[in-house]
Amino acid sequence: MEGVEKSEAAYVDDEIAQAQVKIWRILFGFTEMAAAKCAVELGIPDILENHGDPMTLSQLSSALNCSSTALFRIMRFLMNRGIFQEKITKQGSMGYAQTALSRLLTKDGNESLASMLLFQSSSAIIAPWHYLSSRVLDDKTSAFVRAHGMDIWQHGAENPDDAKLLDEAMASDTRRTIPAVLEGCPEIFDGLSSVVNVGGGDGTALRILIKACPWIRGINFDLPRVVAAAPECEGMEHVGGDMFTSVPKANAAFLKWILHDWNDDECIQILKNCREAISEYGSAGKVIIVEAVIEEKGGDELKDGGLVLDMVMLAQTDKGKERTAEEWTYVLREAGFTRHTIKNIQSVLSVIEAFP
Ligand SMILES: C[S@@+](CC[C@H](N)C(=O)[O-])C[C@H]1O[C@@H](n2cnc3c(N)ncnc32)[C@H](O)[C@@H]1O
Repeated sequence: MEGVEKSEAAYVDDEIAQAQVKIWRILFGFTEMAAAKCAVELGIPDILENHGDPMTLSQLSSALNCSSTALFRIMRFLMNRGIFQEKITKQGSMGYAQTALSRLLTKDGNESLASMLLFQSSSAIIAPWHYLSSRVLDDKTSAFVRAHGMDIWQHGAENPDDAKLLDEAMASDTRRTIPAVLEGCPEIFDGLSSVVNVGGGDGTALRILIKACPWIRGINFDLPRVVAAAPECEGMEHVGGDMFTSVPKANAAFLKWILHDWNDDECIQILKNCREAISEYGSAGKVIIVEAVIEEKGGDELKDGGLVLDMVMLAQTDKGKERTAEEWTYVLREAGFTRHTIKNIQSVLSVIEAFP
């Protein structure tokens, strides 16, 4: 009632009610991932995209050759979560239509994160999440090793299908992140004659970079089995090797989502090898790192993603972690870099430029 102050008991009741809503969301948080995975596996975002107009339930169930009962319930849930929406078809019936969210789940397309969803929801990647508490109690054995008996890289070497999922997931993020880097700080590539992408996967990042900055010669450096499967591209060579041993020489070393996979000592070793790789270029050489820079309290919605990634590191890597600005300063100084800058871009990740 207007003018009547809320009692303390009413505030406590509100708090309990809100907590009940929040805990319910947490308890069943996995349902959003599972239903979105179901839509991607069935190709529903692609079917709607190709159809153009909104599709009725009966049109969608015929396209999928399935009955409409379960499909209706999946679509109702996903619409409730903002993936898909209801729109009137040309014939005046109610139909399903794409939203900005479901467009991110089409199987191809530059912005698509469907591969990331399929990777993160795959059985091999879900399994280590069951071992987080064991990891907390015994920091020596990672959650991934507990689940699979080996680390994620060895698992990839022995399970080509899972390795393919990982490589495609990384490439899907790269297709979104590299344009954000180019848009947020294009000047960092000015005047660079060559760039070695350390742990560059299938070369997606360099392909985008070279297209935007054709003056750059690219060296895509990764494990031999990864570069062996990478497609050829003009202006770029693939080199297989081990970044803990040495890194091919170039004007700049570029590392996206590499250092967070490793502990500080390993990170410092990789960074020292990168410093050696750019040493011929003197003060014109640099290392460009694209990683999360976490804020302890989460920061804004984008930066909060860094804390989520830190949980992912805890589950999926042996010793990896996301780092705060202070932690980045520590590893860079220990690796012999004299100064560095951190730039925010339109991504969960930031751009760190480090100079010898
Ligand atoms: C998390 S993925 C990131 C891939 C890519 N930079 C991206 O962001 O899309 C890590 C990459 O490091 C590579 N990698 C792992 N160990 C390596 C090593 N010892 N030497 C070179 N590359 C390695 C993996 O094969 C993988 O492509």
